[in-house]
Amino acid sequence: MSKHVYIKTFGCQMNERDSEIIEQLLSQAGYISVAEQEDADLVILNTCSIRAKAEQKVFSLLGLLRKQKEKKPELRIAVAGCVAQQEGKQIFKRMPHVDIVVGTQQIYQLPDMLLRLDRNETRKEVSCDLEKSFTIPPFQKLLTAEKGRPPSPAAPEFRKFVTIMQGCNNFCSYCVVPATRGREISRPVSDILEEVTLLANKGVKEITLLGQNVNSYGCTNSVADQQTGFADLLQMVARIPGVERLRFTSSNPQDLSTELMQCFAELDNLCPHFHLPVQSGSNAVLKRMQRKYTRELYLEKVDILRSFCPEIVISTDMIIGFPGESELDFEQTMDLLETVRFHGSFSFKYSDRPNTRSANFTDKVEDKVKGERLQRFQKRQDQISLQRNRDYIGQTVEVMVESLKPDSVQSRTGSNHIVHFMTSPVHRFTPGDIAMVTIIHAGKHSLNGDLAA
Ligand code: 5AD
Ligand code: SF4
Repeated sequence: MSKHVYIKTFGCQMNERDSEIIEQLLSQAGYISVAEQEDADLVILNTCSIRAKAEQKVFSLLGLLRKQKEKKPELRIAVAGCVAQQEGKQIFKRMPHVDIVVGTQQIYQLPDMLLRLDRNETRKEVSCDLEKSFTIPPFQKLLTAEKGRPPSPAAPEFRKFVTIMQGCNNFCSYCVVPATRGREISRPVSDILEEVTLLANKGVKEITLLGQNVNSYGCTNSVADQQTGFADLLQMVARIPGVERLRFTSSNPQDLSTELMQCFAELDNLCPHFHLPVQSGSNAVLKRMQRKYTRELYLEKVDILRSFCPEIVISTDMIIGFPGESELDFEQTMDLLETVRFHGSFSFKYSDRPNTRSANFTDKVEDKVKGERLQRFQKRQDQISLQRNRDYIGQTVEVMVESLKPDSVQSRTGSNHIVHFMTSPVHRFTPGDIAMVTIIHAGKHSLNGDLAA
């Protein structure tokens, strides 16, 4: 009888992609994915440790799972992802109900580990050495898994992530990623092009190139000898027939080349949306964050981007209340928000993370102050987002259908705005279809429209 697996994913797109790979590997090993945790014989938590809150969520869920396992002792529990990589040993020590801890670069070993547990090997015997787990990532396996992926007629996939690099060499002083994902390494160009071609031939219309720091693709520790930078790669992928929409994430301002920015003027299928995390508007804070750019350089990049592509939508990430952030530093952040007028942003209270430099900084900002500043920032951002979204009222935009509700459709513009439109019957649309919609209403997080005649 087949076993049922439930995978819960926390965190970033890197993790979403890893969960897809895990699902694929397990389906080849005879597991069936289920949508409800209660129906599962195996629960996998693919975890994130970027902020303290993200990690707390994982531990509270592990607490609930302990109770479930008391009722259903045959339930298997696996912890993967960044918390597993970082806290794996502690999890094993403190949580006897966890059967498997699998590091960020060990997911390919998961089917084998499960098989060995089935053969009554102990969890200690099957677990890998997390500290020794950083090897050259098995990029080749990504391609093999993709080739072996059975078509899923129920939900045709219209968009996919394609990994182009792993790890990070930036060592921002607040960030766990270099510790949880290892050093930066770029995947060979030929593999990437082959995977995108394969996907496009299967009907995938939107591709997102994925890496912690895509702008430095090919610059560091490449598994193939290559002279291809990210802008060159983007141009090659954009030319693959069937790729209707092309996106990428994440970017770092210091590595953002003019060639890359120029791509927004040249490539029709490159979506006019740039997520460019800035983290702070104060040079003093940026310096202590070990970000390798200044506020001025960031603003210059924004200007160049807008000169190449006036309609480009720019969003960002912001950390509020980094150690030592003074009221004046925070004003600089608010001022940057007014200057750029980001279309949207993700903003977070700073939290200490294990093994990061800033965790040892002594001048921590009081939680209450962090909270007040975060609220001020978010309130102003919401106003700006709403104003910016209202600019679309009356415009007819091209959208790609994402999902169908009983009497409405959720879709997305190239510029990454969510657009809802009413239609009946909804079933004349399939996810991935392109439609033209005239915007009639704007909220701060989404737009509403009518199908254009
Ligand atoms: N505290 C708060 N926010 C953080 N981020 C990364 N590390 C921390 C931290 N220690 C935020 C950054 C990053 C986003 C993914 O999470 O803004 O861009
Ligand atoms: Fe979270 Fe960062 Fe790990 Fe992604 S890479 S799962 S954001 S800690």
